[in-house]
Amino acid sequence: MSLKDSPIGIFDSGVGGTSILKELMAVLPHERFIYLADSKNAPYGVKSVDQIIELSHKNTRHLMAQDVKLIVAACNTATTNAIRELRRDYDLPFIGIEPAIKPAAIQTLTNKIGILATKGTLSSALFEKTSELFKKHLTLTEVEGIGIVEAVENGTTETPRFIESLTDQIKIFKAADIDCLVLGCTHYPFIRKHLSLLLPDVKIIDSGYAVAQQTKKILKDSQRIQDKPKKQIVDVYTNANNLNVLNSIFKEQPFVSCQYLDF
Ligand code: DGL
Repeated sequence: MSLKDSPIGIFDSGVGGTSILKELMAVLPHERFIYLADSKNAPYGVKSVDQIIELSHKNTRHLMAQDVKLIVAACNTATTNAIRELRRDYDLPFIGIEPAIKPAAIQTLTNKIGILATKGTLSSALFEKTSELFKKHLTLTEVEGIGIVEAVENGTTETPRFIESLTDQIKIFKAADIDCLVLGCTHYPFIRKHLSLLLPDVKIIDSGYAVAQQTKKILKDSQRIQDKPKKQIVDVYTNANNLNVLNSIFKEQPFVSCQYLDF
């Protein structure tokens, strides 16, 4: 099988990275995708750096056994804590995702930006290095999302209890008078509707489209892009009991196959 026909591998701590998978599907209509939702081990955001690196290795090894031609780490926490090790240890292109501070810096009018991300991302050396560069010109308000990943994983983001908790968490952004909010976790686009209602004057920015464009560019540059008009094939695997959540995410794309797999 030629490299061009090989699938693209994607992993996340759970279902959140499907927000990236959807962007990839839109930009790369002839590719095969294999997505791993490591929901059994979610959330990654409260784990140690070593644990995050180990889980990222496990997901990578599983994807490499499926002969993937490129891997997208559709997880800010895995990227900011483990991408350096993955790039060092495997001979394969890796695309990572990091909080989109730069696009926010371009769009802000007040120079006050909020970042909602996991503890693992906010405390990572990579995030610290990037945010330091921007702190010279901008006021960054960083908030660690509490219970958001779990609610997306469990499909409970519409409950009054969750909305109450979210309302409480974003108060700090209101007080800081931000005009742009960076979603620094791939689970968070699933609560974009709530955030827009709670912060009506704030522009909400995620990295999904940019990651999809970068993936396309790397596939082209490395001559791995599928250049024949093949039918798109998407296989999504979860290692937890949350197929109902995945099926509801892909209810408008019934060709996406969601299955349980112990990995
Ligand atoms: N989707 C992951 C991210 O982008 C969630 C992290 C977690 O599992 O805590 O960071």
